[in-house]
Amino acid sequence: MKIASIVGARPQFVKAAMVSRALRSAGVTETLVHTGQHYDDNMSKVFFEELRIPKPDYNLGIGSGDHGSQTGRMLEALENVLQREKPNWALVYGDTNSTLAGALAAAKLHIPVAHVEAGLRSFNRQMPEEINRIVTDQLSTLLFAPTETAVRNLQREGIADGIHNFGDVMYDAVLTHRELATIQSRILGGLNLHPKTYALATVHRAENTEDLRRLLEIFEALRILSRELPIVLPLHPRTRHALESIPILVNAQLILIEPVSYLDILLLESQARFILTDSGGVQKEAFFFRVPCITLRDETEWVETVDAGWNVVAGTRRESIIQAARSAQAGRCDAYPFGDGNAAQNIARVIGQLAE
Ligand code: UD1
Ligand code: UDP
Repeated sequence: MKIASIVGARPQFVKAAMVSRALRSAGVTETLVHTGQHYDDNMSKVFFEELRIPKPDYNLGIGSGDHGSQTGRMLEALENVLQREKPNWALVYGDTNSTLAGALAAAKLHIPVAHVEAGLRSFNRQMPEEINRIVTDQLSTLLFAPTETAVRNLQREGIADGIHNFGDVMYDAVLTHRELATIQSRILGGLNLHPKTYALATVHRAENTEDLRRLLEIFEALRILSRELPIVLPLHPRTRHALESIPILVNAQLILIEPVSYLDILLLESQARFILTDSGGVQKEAFFFRVPCITLRDETEWVETVDAGWNVVAGTRRESIIQAARSAQAGRCDAYPFGDGNAAQNIARVIGQLAE
């Protein structure tokens, strides 16, 4: 059984770390392909090193670009790799342009596709990720849905076969690495931060960074809140570029830093008083650590975190963000909608049993 796993962006490295390890233990031969969508050392290399992800067999070096050109270049390069490697299956993760290109390249070559994190929907087709998810799920033969909501979304779109809900591999990743983060990470001391006396923020979603009015509102809210407690914000390169064109006011308590490693973000998340984010992964991690989350978007795919009372979808208006942050509170602690921490192993078991 030979599988080609296709990754390219930061969240996919975290997911693949868990699944690759489990696949190799299950005796599956894996060809790991990195599209090169993320390429800065702190967006890519650091994850491979820290999470001990095997070195990719191919790095396609695609880099950044508009959606059509980036995805198109990936498609062409992936087709070459798949034709050469002839895997029995292709494995894709999440909802990035690398996911879409991987699924499309494989499906056109009649290579069946397995999708990890299938069935997520925001019901907002303005999001590039929503288009990527819908198309990828339609092209997939095996759909690993992380939640029951995701299963229902797939069924509503007429997908009846091949769905498995083993939980979320990002939950596996947090359970596997949280102890290590407390032992190894030096980030709190380095930033002179103390547990539960600061907030963590991340902002990178295109709908926020490409709309300068929204970006300004978010940063105004962060600036005002940072008078009340320090806010640390590891800046995604997309956001760093966007901030070059708006006049944001910073102060010493709004701490803008480079993207951090996985162990560092886990420590920052787990010790934050609350988290403000537009990231999908970070919303979930806030929930795994039972840290209140304020989501800087108008909707979320991760509705379970809202239902459990740990996440508030605040939108991007300055006042609503400030108000949500000031009233951030604990939710229920008896909700476990993301599985039992064995999602990756179960996924690998199913893949390992597939016929060649
Ligand atoms: C991508 C995903 C998004 C995911 C995010 C995770 C798509 C459409 N979007 O968004 O779903 O949440 O990754 O982080 O696939 N850049 C660098 N260095 C890098 C990578 C990017 O400077 O290593 C800059 C470039 O200016 C680039 C911009 O960031 O144009 C955006 O990168 P891109 O990969 O296109 O999208 P993300 O915003 O990272
Ligand atoms: N992450 C990280 N360092 C950072 C910011 C995020 O390691 O500086 C992690 C984050 O905790 C999550 C993963 O990267 O595990 C993906 O998050 P991102 O926000 O990039 O993407 P999304 O989940 O929104 O697609």
